[in-house]
Amino acid sequence: MESQCISINKRDGEITRRELIEMGALDKNLKIKQDGEHILIPVNKPVEGYGNIGYDDFEEVIKEETPQELLGTSPAYELVGDIAIIDRYESDLKNIAEALVKQKKIRTVLYADTPVSGEYRTRELSYLAGENKTETIYRENKCRYRLDVSKVYFTPRLATERLRIAGQVKNGETVVDMFAGIGPFSILIAKKLPDSHVIAIDKNPEAVRYLRENVELNKLENVEVREGDVRTASNGVRDADHVIMNLPHSGFEFLDVAFGLIKKGGIVHFYAISHEDDLFGETLLKINEIARRCNVSIVPIEKRAVRPYAPYQYNICIDFRVT
Ligand SMILES: C[S@@+](CC[C@H](N)C(=O)[O-])C[C@H]1O[C@@H](n2cnc3c(N)ncnc32)[C@H](O)[C@@H]1O
Repeated sequence: MESQCISINKRDGEITRRELIEMGALDKNLKIKQDGEHILIPVNKPVEGYGNIGYDDFEEVIKEETPQELLGTSPAYELVGDIAIIDRYESDLKNIAEALVKQKKIRTVLYADTPVSGEYRTRELSYLAGENKTETIYRENKCRYRLDVSKVYFTPRLATERLRIAGQVKNGETVVDMFAGIGPFSILIAKKLPDSHVIAIDKNPEAVRYLRENVELNKLENVEVREGDVRTASNGVRDADHVIMNLPHSGFEFLDVAFGLIKKGGIVHFYAISHEDDLFGETLLKINEIARRCNVSIVPIEKRAVRPYAPYQYNICIDFRVT
């Protein structure tokens, strides 16, 4: 069936499409077409000032129903690449999985049987729908990461936080990522600041295998990967400008190591979990106590509640300068 459209030079296509959306004139049920050097944009009402009004046959846009439309509620899930991981508090798993796997961007649906736990901060996952796999490629802030969600720690919920930290690093500086995982802090920093030197450490051999792969995937030459317990794997490292400590449940145990790695005036980015009634007070007290024992003092620069972690609990970050 023929529909009304405007024909516009290819060069002006995107700006015109936006103008038509603002005017409420773009026919969103039909697909925009290319015709040589021109773009044919379907409209649902006559629009003045665009000339070239015509008619053409357009393909219909097949609308994908969202999980919310299919289920009537919004299920809680995390999307890592093309793998959806349903939150472990959800019930009605079969229906949620069926609704999720209908989405074009989702190939696999898993369920988190356990919370993240253990030294390597991993979780038990079980298969629910789609392709039975646990490895994927995830894109964030123009970087790519290959990872196996069942073997390593990873959350997409820190994307903004990683950008914030990368924004504090300057070219030429040395950064130690003490608990690097598959490298989302290290790789972003190394990519944004090609003249920085990033030392990325992790104890989980699987995480380190992906970390190395991701360094290559992002074509980086300024990341030094070290495998092992940070206490020994950081041997020989001194005078870092930044130390990232993303091990929120037990970071305090490694503060003495961080104080040995950082240069005078350098910044430690320390993550912790705290109660909403006292977001920073107790954590700062503990940091100060350990600093005193290590004969250094600290000056807090920024304190942030990064994201809600559990009922009444927050994942927080304190950036402090070591003097
Ligand atoms: C919360 S995850 C953070 C990973 C990464 N920074 C991210 O944002 O995805 C903590 C990481 O620390 C690693 N880890 C735990 N204890 C460690 C230790 N003593 N030395 C080195 N790495 C350790 C775990 O294997 C895990 O990959």
